[in-house]
Amino acid sequence: MRCQKEKFNLDSDITYLNCSYMSPQMKQMEAIGIEVMKRQGKPYTYSINDFFEPVAQLKQAFADLIETETPDRIAIIPSVSYGLANVANNLHLKEGEQILVVDEQFPSNIYPWHRVAAEAKATVDMVHPPATQNNRGKIWNENILAAITDRTKMVAISHVHWKDGTLFDLKAIRKKTIEHGALLVIDGTQSVGALPFSIKEIYPDALICGGYKWLMGPYSLGVAYYGPYFDNGTPIEENWLNRLNSEDFTGLVDYQPLYRPLANRYSVGEQSNFILTPLLLAAIRQLNTWGVDQIQAYCHQITVSAIAEMRDMGLFIEADTYRSAHLFGVTFNDQIDPVLLKNTLEEAKILVSFRGNAMRIGPNVYNNEEDLTKLLDCLKKSKKKG
Ligand SMILES: Cc1ncc(COP(=O)(O)O)c(C=O)c1O
Repeated sequence: MRCQKEKFNLDSDITYLNCSYMSPQMKQMEAIGIEVMKRQGKPYTYSINDFFEPVAQLKQAFADLIETETPDRIAIIPSVSYGLANVANNLHLKEGEQILVVDEQFPSNIYPWHRVAAEAKATVDMVHPPATQNNRGKIWNENILAAITDRTKMVAISHVHWKDGTLFDLKAIRKKTIEHGALLVIDGTQSVGALPFSIKEIYPDALICGGYKWLMGPYSLGVAYYGPYFDNGTPIEENWLNRLNSEDFTGLVDYQPLYRPLANRYSVGEQSNFILTPLLLAAIRQLNTWGVDQIQAYCHQITVSAIAEMRDMGLFIEADTYRSAHLFGVTFNDQIDPVLLKNTLEEAKILVSFRGNAMRIGPNVYNNEEDLTKLLDCLKKSKKKG
């Protein structure tokens, strides 16, 4: 894969290495956005088909991306917290059971568990990374596996840690959760779209993805996969579009007790979202065209030599086998003056995130090796003396 910068509208003097914060929209989105906004001025151009067909196409595109043959297992969500609220609503946690999470997980994947655990007198237990940087990712993964027991009702985790890109071995975690009859619920917001993920390989009980980062879609629209555990569950709201035969607008008050099949019951009200749906659909189709494996390989290719130099400078970046290439953290190990670095980056117009004691770098297909060299120069200029 080659650099795709021409498909984006990023300013030429900006080095944007922050897709983990928010993806830039592709140029084609602007054209689609103007088109769909214009249509809002003529509501009579919408047909019943417009309520259903674009959503069906979005589900199909996302199903292709995550390798499932069942688009009916996809629900449309406005946020990760919404998708996880549907999980919380159907956990049926019992007293003494445990929900397992990892240290400093994103709050949308923590707060719902605090509530259901308090209600059920269960616990939310956090697996911390080891204090050492030696084999940190390996040991952290081993500790997660060791923490899964018969008391575990669910492991709620991500594929990569949102703060520093530590890779969690979902295959091993899935195996252990099955051995102990526990659910596996994944927040894919910081990985799906840039790091290959296959339902066929991991078969999680749920996979929840915000759309505005690695899926390259607009803010406020996401997608979720719910597995068989949730087939007969209770959604957090009762929207008419989720009921069987809702496409028959003349029969809406022949109230329908049955839902559309599988995960359709979990879609948010007004899921047809005439403005945002075409944007996320176009973005995911583009990702499918590029191929997520190609995107991950491209991120590796443009970062590999800069990472080697950063390590030579004494900075810590997780071992390659336990981190992603599209999102990784750089821990300064007292080698860098953080205030000087922030000023230097600002001057050079380089955008990254600072999360706790690490700098988070999130490259994507619009970046190139030169962008990483510029970042490296700023680190060198900010190195503490002596
Ligand atoms: C891992 C992760 N999950 C979820 C979100 C967003 O959650 P929500 O859609 O509930 O605002 C973010 C945003 O940064 C994130 O990094």
